[in-house]
Amino acid sequence: MVLAGKTVVLCVTGGIAAYKAADLTSKLRHQGAAVRVLMTESATQFISPMTFETLSSNRVVVDTFDRNFAWEVEHVSLAKAADVFVIAPATANVIAKAAHGIADDMVTTTLLATKAPVVIAPAMNTGMYDNPVTQQNLETLRQRGFHIVDPAAGRLACGDTGRGKLADTPDLIWGIEKALTPQDMAGKRVLVTAGPTQEAMDPVRFLSNHSSGKQGYAVAARAAMRGAEVTLVSGPTALDTPNGVCRVDVVCARDMHEAVLARAETQDMIIKAAAVGDYRPAETASEKLKKGDGELTVTLARNPDILAELGQKKRPGQLLCGFAMETQNLLDNAADKLRRKNCDMLVANSLRDKGAGFQGDTNLATLLFADGKQETLPLMGKDALSDIILDRLLGLAGGV
Ligand code: CTP
Repeated sequence: MVLAGKTVVLCVTGGIAAYKAADLTSKLRHQGAAVRVLMTESATQFISPMTFETLSSNRVVVDTFDRNFAWEVEHVSLAKAADVFVIAPATANVIAKAAHGIADDMVTTTLLATKAPVVIAPAMNTGMYDNPVTQQNLETLRQRGFHIVDPAAGRLACGDTGRGKLADTPDLIWGIEKALTPQDMAGKRVLVTAGPTQEAMDPVRFLSNHSSGKQGYAVAARAAMRGAEVTLVSGPTALDTPNGVCRVDVVCARDMHEAVLARAETQDMIIKAAAVGDYRPAETASEKLKKGDGELTVTLARNPDILAELGQKKRPGQLLCGFAMETQNLLDNAADKLRRKNCDMLVANSLRDKGAGFQGDTNLATLLFADGKQETLPLMGKDALSDIILDRLLGLAGGV
């Protein structure tokens, strides 16, 4: 939704990846953005302006010698129209010019004039990309607040293998959305846990729960989009790793305990959305258990309570957010959990409420705070709830 109603000025420069900018144009339009395309003359050698004109429903501005428009005015008006300015693919040449303020064509003059956030997606031969001068130019741009969408590694059109492939369209879109999103969590280190745990009985069976991981993944994704440095400790889920998130996979509660505790100290916020198994089979059989005629009794051993331990070890300034999923006495149980585990905030939801819970894309939650305040939220998407959770934690961090 970030892109809806926004104007993206997309500059296409001359590289073989220019054809991928057509897909980007199309996907940006699908998301409700208006796209104004600028091409360097060399880009037109790789792909026709007509392609972008058709996809964007706007006239493409091409930097040719055949100037039948007042480009001095045009470059200023495009610079002003841009909510976000994107160069994809960006050649080593345009990156070098951007880093040094050279303005000798439509793309670079418009870039110099714009006040919009700038996204640069490099694409070039590996040797050119790895060259220290290109890396230094990119660093200069990064320092100046440009958003760089790193190229992928793989086989390049020139036959070399290495870094330099233009990032895929979803990654480009993510970079553009991030550039449009206030980076109010920049500099914050956030650890999120998500998903179920699996407690093995034998090599083929385990105890687990219905957690999909969606809420925790949504929190991690939104925090990364807002500029935080995010670690996601995840139990087994079917979900893709959100962009910009460092994911650590675990299986059982004891693994999660180890992974979280090893990283907890340096975190500003820890958000424990995982549905951690409280018990595990006391013994894990090394071979598959064979059935007998009678009943099978399994003895369960207690797992460590990760959140409670984090609550005990919490350092000053660190914020701890727990989750509580209940089937009865929601608010009393949740308030008790918040106190017992020394949380700053607790997200409570009831499995009995329609639209709340494990598998869906919506949630119905009440937020509880250490000072006794409560905030009951309406039914909303897990992304929207994630933003509210992060807003409230930022509020607590700032003493608001
Ligand atoms: N949690 C945890 N470690 C556990 C169990 C739970 O860190 N071994 C965390 C969850 O990630 C969640 C919160 O504690 O943030 C609440 O989980 P829940 O299972 O509802 O709480 P319990 O303390 O286990 O209470 P009960 O099962 O008795 O309701």
